[in-house]
Amino acid sequence: MLKAIENNNYSIYFKSEGYKKLAHYIQGKKINKILILTDDNTKNFCLEQFRNDLLSYCKENIFIHDFSIKSGEASKNFSESTKIIKYMLQCGFKRNGLVINLGGGMISDIGGFVASIYMRGLKFINIPTTLLAMVDASIGGKNGIDFNSIKNLIGTFNFADFTIVDSRFLKTLSKKQLISGFAEIIKHSLISSNNEWKIIQEIDDINAISDEIIYNSVIIKNHIINKDPYEKNIRKYLNYGHTLGHAIESYFLNKKEEILHGEAISVGLILETYISHVVLKLDINYALEVKKLIFKFFKKIEFTDNNINKIVNLLKHDKKNKSETPLFVLIEDIGKPVINQKVSNKNILDAFKFYAV
Ligand SMILES: NC(=O)c1ccc[n+]([C@@H]2O[C@H](COP(=O)([O-])OP(=O)(O)OC[C@H]3O[C@@H](n4cnc5c(N)ncnc54)[C@H](O)[C@@H]3O)[C@@H](O)[C@H]2O)c1
Repeated sequence: MLKAIENNNYSIYFKSEGYKKLAHYIQGKKINKILILTDDNTKNFCLEQFRNDLLSYCKENIFIHDFSIKSGEASKNFSESTKIIKYMLQCGFKRNGLVINLGGGMISDIGGFVASIYMRGLKFINIPTTLLAMVDASIGGKNGIDFNSIKNLIGTFNFADFTIVDSRFLKTLSKKQLISGFAEIIKHSLISSNNEWKIIQEIDDINAISDEIIYNSVIIKNHIINKDPYEKNIRKYLNYGHTLGHAIESYFLNKKEEILHGEAISVGLILETYISHVVLKLDINYALEVKKLIFKFFKKIEFTDNNINKIVNLLKHDKKNKSETPLFVLIEDIGKPVINQKVSNKNILDAFKFYAV
């Protein structure tokens, strides 16, 4: 059995232990209403399994509402948030209601956001159903929605009371989505240790991602969040690959050729590892290793000069910036991230050239 991770702010449970804890929690907190938030796919593929697992541990009858929004990043917005709030109001949710976010990062981000602002805050719990949400989005208290084509512009820091990681949900997830989640596992290994990086490089088959790999990735993120929950310093390590990754993702938001979060981050990881070589003298072989591993799983994206200029322009919206100059997290060695690094436009353009060849 995977050992539970219990912190002051929040806990992470795995598989059946999670459902037992959840049933106990609901009864102990005298929750009077539950909203399970899903999207089209998690309503189809995950809702029934989750209800059955939960109800098999609940001693009393509990009344559960569920509400579903359209799947996809385009739903992470104010208009969908308003629909959820209206539904909760209609069902009579008060502050002793509970929101359960059953889905990927889109659902935990918007559901955590709504739960944080409805009546100044309801309790919420995350049940991640994608690889990306299991190792990343469902942990760490960041919630939010996109606005004006800027990723996560509006949001809150507010922790889910707990997260249940149950890899059985991955059975129905597409290969493309599994690969997208793998980008965050790669990132965690790069900011963690050489040993972790070696283990991850040996993965050849995305379907062979084991519970142990997921668990180790969760441990890496959790360790950092615990030390710096509100991103004053070392939590910024988790933004490795994300400064350019988010700008790329923002650029493709609402475009015909929309790309997945992890796909954008995979590009960001190659670019920022190359920039780490230029700025912090990271051994170039690591940049080559990152590129090799990422191209084993991810398709190369063709960027025109015009695309790149627009992406560079979007960097000024990065939330890590103190002014309009983008600040990067780079690595001076595997497992040794360095925050608040200024990077020139030339370094960025050179990194795109490194990506392209
Ligand atoms: N808050 C954070 O700390 C944090 C961290 C990383 C990413 N994020 C956010 O997470 C989002 C990306 O998350 P994601 O990749 O999970 O995307 P997602 O939630 O959009 O899910 C991806 C797709 O998989 C489908 N799906 C989900 N679970 C499924 C299942 N078990 N079977 C079949 N289909 C399923 C969804 O309906 C969707 O179509 C982005 O909005 C990103 O900004 C947040």
